[in-house]
This record gives sequence, C-alpha cells and structure tokens, in this order.
Amino acid sequence: MPTISVTTRDGRAVPVIAEVGRSLMEAIRGAGIDDLMALCGGSCSCATCHVKVDAMHAHLLSPASEYENDLLDSSSHRDGTSRLSCQITVSAELDGLRVTIAPED
Ligand code: FES
Repeated sequence: MPTISVTTRDGRAVPVIAEVGRSLMEAIRGAGIDDLMALCGGSCSCATCHVKVDAMHAHLLSPASEYENDLLDSSSHRDGTSRLSCQITVSAELDGLRVTIAPED
C-alpha cells in the first residue's frame, strides 16, 4: 500500500499507509490524524479537508473539478498547491506523496 507523508498543523510528519481506492481524507482520518475535520464526510461540500500538496507531486493528481475549485476559493489559505483531500483517490502512483494539512479557516 502507498505511504503518504502527512505534515500536521503542529509540524509533525506522519507516514500514513493508505489503502488504494480510498480517499486521501479517509486515509488521513483513519490514521488518527484529527486535524482534518472533514465535516461533510467527503461529499465535497465543506472544504475542511484542505491540504497542500508538495509541488513535486502535484502532477500525479488529476486536476481539481470546477466544484472543488469553487469550494477551495472559500478558504483564505488557498494557494496553488491546495486540494481537498476527499477528492484525491489513493493509487499506487501516489506512494511517497507529501501533503501538509492547511491551517484552519
Ligand atoms: S470532507 Fe468536506 S469537502 Fe472534503
């Protein structure tokens, strides 16, 4: 299973072993990292699963949908590396991905 490095809000880099086919949000929450509130449960309607993807790995992800893009606009911490982790499906190619949990809005 791919291992994804998740940097928490307090600066810890936590290796998360993620099941292929699950969302990155589920993998992070399943690893016991509760910085991500994921209030909508992954239905792309809350933006509380906001992460920043290491620029080196951004090309591995499919582009954000228009709806994800609009939701990210609601965050004052959005930048060019921002994604909603519930919209990222874990695949073998994501092994080694590094993400940082965005500050809380
Ligand atoms: S969990 Fe709500 S938008 Fe991702």
